[in-house]
Amino acid sequence: MSFIVAIDGPAGSGKGTITKLIGEKFNLTNIDTGAMYRCVALTCLENDITDKQLDKIEQILEKIDIKLKRINDNQIVLLNGKDVTSKIRTTEVDNAVAKFAALKIVRDKMTPLQREMGKQDNIIMEGRDIGTVVFPNADVKIFLDCSVEERAKRRYKQNIEKGINCSYEEVLKSIKERHLLETKRDIAPFVKAEDAIYIDSTNMTIPEVVDKISKIIKEKMN
Ligand code: DC
Repeated sequence: MSFIVAIDGPAGSGKGTITKLIGEKFNLTNIDTGAMYRCVALTCLENDITDKQLDKIEQILEKIDIKLKRINDNQIVLLNGKDVTSKIRTTEVDNAVAKFAALKIVRDKMTPLQREMGKQDNIIMEGRDIGTVVFPNADVKIFLDCSVEERAKRRYKQNIEKGINCSYEEVLKSIKERHLLETKRDIAPFVKAEDAIYIDSTNMTIPEVVDKISKIIKEKMN
């Protein structure tokens, strides 16, 4: 049986960075399930398919091949054999992904794939429904929260650093819209699992969060 750490949290909660650091510290394979939904959204956008064209999405899903690899400490996302690590992080994908991730046909394909990935190694898996749906029996379940204003502030800063032209208000609006779509959807809504440990990272530094989660993992491993 593999050891499974589930980290659920909203966009901008620091989840990605924290998951990577903890994965390295405890030698856990890092699985970013958001990247998988982003691959679906990217493929649909590239083929001019909207979230209403279920037949076409079904065809895409039949053929889709997503691989998450770690090369020199970097997580690489391969979509049908091509490196899309940067392409899945554009504003276009940011704005479209929640709609595709809300579809039953998409989740019905991704959830079993994620469970399969979890069988292979000791893992840390991040997403929105890991502790509730994908691995309800995970050894450690964390719900990593953060205020919407702080999340928008961080995302805005990241965008500016990357040279993406945007305003704080735009980023805040988009984060709020996505949050609403993710928490109100019918299938696998983004909610805290009853037995998940709640951590609010709004006023915490990354090392503080890593430290807190590390203590929880150590306790469980012993
Ligand atoms: O964590 P992220 O921002 O990269 O996630 C991208 C999208 O996928 C986001 O709209 C939430 C959705 N998602 C999901 O519905 N379930 C998951 N397990 C992971 C992500």
